[in-house]
Amino acid sequence: MTQTRGFSRRAIIMHWLITISIFFLFISSWWMLSLPFPSEDFKYRVLPFQVHKNIGITILFFLAILLYLRFKFPPGTVVISHAHPWMSRLVIFYHFLLYVIILSCCVSGYMSSSYSGWNTTLWWIIELPNWGYEDEELNIFYSEIHLWTCWALLVLVAIHVSGAIYHAFRNDGIVQRMLRL
Ligand code: HEM
Ligand code: HEM
Repeated sequence: MTQTRGFSRRAIIMHWLITISIFFLFISSWWMLSLPFPSEDFKYRVLPFQVHKNIGITILFFLAILLYLRFKFPPGTVVISHAHPWMSRLVIFYHFLLYVIILSCCVSGYMSSSYSGWNTTLWWIIELPNWGYEDEELNIFYSEIHLWTCWALLVLVAIHVSGAIYHAFRNDGIVQRMLRL
């Protein structure tokens, strides 16, 4: 690979904050959904759901910052000698898709929860517009979209991480672009 300027330090920090947050949401969400529904006796779901929503919405900010930084301080284009030009185009499209799917997960989660009848207070400080009202059908509709976009994200992340492992074994400097601070 021809060595070029990598991602900016702040972009790398954002990438890892997004990664940790998404892994946390995936691992915690199935546990969260197995908790009993809120009732007079059981309130267990309330806190984990609030934490999930807060982290999910925060990912949106991280994503916006990452996008801003990667265009303000664009990393150099990677030139791998054996790679075909269409491969670079595929990687660009793939990263674009990753951004779109993360965004869709966040928006569908927010839409679903805004029709659930439960308010969302961002980190217990900022009251978010609860533009919906309690509507079971719309809640289920957006919840389905949330579920499917999350599955799509899981597949994309699996491919992304496999790609990173492949490049780590080849020791071609790609992974270092996201590790060097
Ligand atoms: C990248 C960001 C996110 C990821 C990876 C993620 C992941 C998940 C997963 C895997 C589930 C369990 C499967 C399901 O039933 O859908 C779930 C459920 C849920 N998520 Fe998220 N989520 C994200 C963002 C958000 C946001 C921003 C909100 C709301 C502000 C949210 C609200 C919910 C709610 C209310 C549920 C419960 C079930 C439902 O109504 O769909 N999520 N999330
Ligand atoms: C939830 C998990 C992850 C998500 C959502 C994610 C997301 C992203 C995104 C959106 C980009 C595109 C940056 C851009 O060009 O604008 C990127 C690049 C990158 N990611 Fe991840 N990532 C994740 C996990 C990982 C892991 C575990 C590694 C392992 C080392 C990794 C290594 C990289 C590398 C090396 C690049 C730069 C590729 C290049 O040079 O163009 N990522 N990631």
